[in-house]
Amino acid sequence: MFFQLRDKALDIAKLLALGAASLFLSIPATFGAEKERFTPLGAPSCASAACHNQNLGKGIPFSEYTTWTGFDPHHKAYEVLFNPRSDRIMKNLYNTGTGSAGSTQLCLNCHSSNQGKTDHAGPGFTLTEGVGCESCHGASSGYIAVHFTEKFKKLNAVEKEREFGLTNTKDLSSRTRVCADCHLGNARKGMEVNHDLIAAGHPRLNFELSSYLAQYPKHWKMEEEFKRHPDFHAKAWALGQMESSKIALQLLEDRASGTKGMDVKNNPWPEFTEFDCFSCHKDLRLNSRKYQGGYSNKPGSLPWGGWFNGNALKIVLEDSKVKAFPVEVSSQMNQFGAQPSKVALSCKKAIDQLDLAAKDLEKSPAWGKPQLQGLAKRLIESGKQNSEKGSWDEFAQIYLGLAAIHNSWADLDPMGVPGELTKELVNLRNLLKDVFPDGFDSPRLFEDKFGMNTRNEKSSETFSSVFRSLQNSMESSRR
Ligand code: HEC
Ligand code: HEC
Ligand code: HEC
Ligand code: HEC
Repeated sequence: MFFQLRDKALDIAKLLALGAASLFLSIPATFGAEKERFTPLGAPSCASAACHNQNLGKGIPFSEYTTWTGFDPHHKAYEVLFNPRSDRIMKNLYNTGTGSAGSTQLCLNCHSSNQGKTDHAGPGFTLTEGVGCESCHGASSGYIAVHFTEKFKKLNAVEKEREFGLTNTKDLSSRTRVCADCHLGNARKGMEVNHDLIAAGHPRLNFELSSYLAQYPKHWKMEEEFKRHPDFHAKAWALGQMESSKIALQLLEDRASGTKGMDVKNNPWPEFTEFDCFSCHKDLRLNSRKYQGGYSNKPGSLPWGGWFNGNALKIVLEDSKVKAFPVEVSSQMNQFGAQPSKVALSCKKAIDQLDLAAKDLEKSPAWGKPQLQGLAKRLIESGKQNSEKGSWDEFAQIYLGLAAIHNSWADLDPMGVPGELTKELVNLRNLLKDVFPDGFDSPRLFEDKFGMNTRNEKSSETFSSVFRSLQNSMESSRR
């Protein structure tokens, strides 16, 4: 049962990825890039049969290369630039022809290693490898010749990165930053999926660390993760919330201040992806849910985001030194006509706050059952309170948090998780899926089903009824 939920938890990440979809005009890709200390040598240089290419089976140590070539979507990241969807995105954006994405800097920034630069790379490096080992582990010229020595292995992850360029993928905040350049955006490096790209057909980027890690075909052992974090899923979720929000604020700051890596002329303010998609993408009708009294904010205003600053994050922050999400930036972004310079300044302050909270959590001892249960109860309570007015993003984030906590609880106490909780989480997931559009092209579809009609046709459940049942299932666990 638990395993089932794990698998299902994965589904939703996929589902989120189906969101809607992006562009951008020629961003100078490497604008402002400092001179790199290390050079990528290409995935084949990790693939010697004595090293990472022993081909012992999926996920087995020393078989990282075959796990990646055989199962990892990143290996196909370049290839997808030649599929019909990419062609359509390119046609919509630049009116260019078949296959043109494969030579477009913007796309290469995230769909290949080394941001598509072949000049500053070893002879084994090719674009066709897609997102290769060095995209996550760092350019290997500094560590390839030494990383298997006993002396090297004695260094800690921070030293390995500082001295040799082997990226710290052990610490969860550092790991989030690795994924986030591509999965959330980094304007300074010209890596951005903005509303132009989405409107052209690119999937919306909705990153959440624990579910993306769960879905990732791993080439390492989970035992190692559990040694570092017995509460791995829950901790990855909580740290991912803080760190992702920080990175999203950085992106907002860069958008507000027209940071160098971006093409300022073509840099719209405000950038639409910062706002709740459905505040614009809904039908104009007298019986709309909001018109009938469902505003969670001032009628007619444009509410800021939700994915990276919603209640799931707020609950995680309650237990930190920071206590609450910094309100200055949200109150500015929720006012139409927010001044970019002020927004940029508030972002800076908010980033410092979240950084404090994340550093603290990274060092904190593993959570036990009482803490996991406490977090779950607060997530459920918040979902219940917002069940009439909350957005899909809001409920999806709550679900992902609950799924991560559920899975950590099951790791700590396999027989202790109430069966009802598992069952109701599956219901919540199904409800989210039912109300999400099958396609990715227009969120209008899900406003119809979700906004107009909270009670969906496929089951008799509603968000209110599911959150109520979830609450009951937690009560039963005390008995
Ligand atoms: C900020 C990084 C970034 C940029 C820039 C970017 N992409 Fe993507 N793209 C991604 C990520 C990450 C995914 C996977 C999203 C997911 O599943 O969560 C993706 C997914 C896709 C997909 C769907 C993949 C599939 O399996 O069908 C296509 C197609 C695509 N991108 C094409 C493009 C094209 C064409 C461009 C340039 C116009 C581009 N991308 C620019 C990061 C980016
Ligand atoms: C999408 C990002 C990503 C890509 C691509 C990737 N890795 Fe990893 N790799 C990770 C993460 C995250 C971990 C787990 C954290 C850790 O152990 O450092 C990891 C772990 C490892 C480990 C285990 C490290 C240890 O200390 O136990 C090895 C070895 C490894 N990767 C090699 C490779 C090789 C070789 C490739 C290319 C064939 C590759 N990785 C591609 C992200 C990636
Ligand atoms: C250099 C850019 C880059 C980095 C770094 C990166 N990814 Fe990705 N990732 C992509 C792209 C592009 C795709 C889409 C590939 C495709 O569709 O074939 C993708 C796809 C995925 C998918 C599949 C999503 C789906 O909808 O099926 C998962 C899971 C994933 N990445 C997890 C991670 C994690 C976890 C990390 C960090 C440890 C990471 N990625 C780092 C670019 C990146
Ligand atoms: C401030 C208003 C606004 C916000 C917020 C907004 N959009 Fe849009 N969107 C538009 C407009 C205007 C168009 C162009 C419609 C047209 O040309 O018919 C558009 C077009 C699109 C399209 C292509 C056309 C269509 O209607 O299917 C997609 C897909 C899309 N947006 C997705 C999103 C997503 C996903 C988000 C949230 C991340 C979002 N939008 C946020 C105003 C907005």
